[in-house]
Amino acid sequence: MWHCDAAMVWYLVIHWYVREKIQALFLKRMDLHMAMVQWNEEMSVGVAELDGHHKKLLSMINGLAVAIGHGKGKDHVSHSVSELVDYTEYHFNLEHEYFHQFGFVETEAHIKEHTAFVKKIKETSEKIKSGKVLLSINILYFLKDWLVNHIMVVDKKYAQLLKNKGIS
Ligand SMILES: [Fe+2]
Ligand SMILES: [Fe+2]
Repeated sequence: MWHCDAAMVWYLVIHWYVREKIQALFLKRMDLHMAMVQWNEEMSVGVAELDGHHKKLLSMINGLAVAIGHGKGKDHVSHSVSELVDYTEYHFNLEHEYFHQFGFVETEAHIKEHTAFVKKIKETSEKIKSGKVLLSINILYFLKDWLVNHIMVVDKKYAQLLKNKGIS
């Protein structure tokens, strides 16, 4: 009788454990999926090169989500985050060149936003490199949300000016 009860308890424990694991895995996959984003025409600023940069930045964030999903190690993740920081700065610099070239009226406010973002992602990158933090889903959400919002709301403000100047 006791054997039967013990077997039942083990069965229930294992059943519970497996169910929890599957649920956790499912939720993690859902979270990672939600952290990913595809560029679409609504995000276009009307300049092929800048749209290309935005596509690349979003795909780099998606790459980080995939890296987490595949359980990639610290070195791989740290390298990918560094690449994201470098490419972000490269992209922002091109926007700044256009702002200065064409006297964009919101240059100062726009650059301020860039500077704050770069500061934040550089700090995060350093923490990941030194092992102080792991790249988390929350960090991915922050990157995705900031970038999508920046493109859709802030970058869009220069679209008309560049169009008027014949840049496409
Ligand atoms: Fe941009
Ligand atoms: Fe920008």
